[in-house]
Amino acid sequence: MTFDRRHILSMKDFTRNEIDFILERAVKLETLAKGGRSDLLAGNILALLFYEPSTRTRMSFETAMLRLGGSVLNLGSKEASSVVKGETLADTIRVISTYSDAIVLRHPSEGSARMAAEYALVPIINGGDGAGHHPTQTLLDLYTIKKESHLDNLDIAIVGDLKYGRTVHSLAYALSLYGANITLVSPPQLKMPDQIKGDLKTMGARVSETENLDEVLDSVDVLYMTRIQKERFPDPTEYNKVVGAYKITGEHLDNVREDMIIMHPLPRVYEIDSSVDDSAHARYFEQSFYGVPIRMALLTIVLGVEV
Ligand code: NCD
Repeated sequence: MTFDRRHILSMKDFTRNEIDFILERAVKLETLAKGGRSDLLAGNILALLFYEPSTRTRMSFETAMLRLGGSVLNLGSKEASSVVKGETLADTIRVISTYSDAIVLRHPSEGSARMAAEYALVPIINGGDGAGHHPTQTLLDLYTIKKESHLDNLDIAIVGDLKYGRTVHSLAYALSLYGANITLVSPPQLKMPDQIKGDLKTMGARVSETENLDEVLDSVDVLYMTRIQKERFPDPTEYNKVVGAYKITGEHLDNVREDMIIMHPLPRVYEIDSSVDDSAHARYFEQSFYGVPIRMALLTIVLGVEV
């Protein structure tokens, strides 16, 4: 499979074969992800350009690069860089391209990663573009589902902020390639955008919508919870109307399938009570760890290194 120097911008750009290839490579790298160091990417530099807060995406990319023997260059805060002087993203990308071998970009504007790719001399990896896409999160989500549940004939409820949540936009596209049965659960104000639903339909996806989580709780294999994306609401009073719309507590787990797993891209705020953490269903911390082998796999792929 030829992936060399390819940008990672949106799950819309991927075939199922390509996704399977990445997931298989992550399996090979999982032991190394747990500890140790190789020299697979020695001499390579990964630049991290994060214009929005991040814990997992930024640090798991950094861990992935270090475990592979590469180095990391960090833009740091916007305040510490020329971004505050008014430098455009295009100029920043042009310059950082000459300092690094690949760039991970997180930016508040939808479409920013695709725009950056036009100016970049090295692969751009989209670490989240506003309310748009978050493809590397989706790859680790798929890896989690494959390891902790099953990707074939999957029944999944995707719950919460489906309007502004970029992780669920990417996830829905990818799951459609696997023929999953997807139930979208959200308040009416936070439904999945029509354009994405239209695309999913065209792809032949099995998608339904409801506001009522209880309707689907006892039948799904995977419960994918998300945070209401407070920072994307133009009006804080609108956020206050939906905050806390869905919250999973230990009591919800009485009638669920024995092998049902609960996932969340994290950070969680109100969506999952800490009493759920010790249940046999919780997988969100395993999920965040799987970001390391997946990002190791992606880095070797975009930098053209065989494993
Ligand atoms: C998500 C994001 O940034 O979109 N976080 C992450 O990358 N794990 C989800 C969120 O912020 O709610």
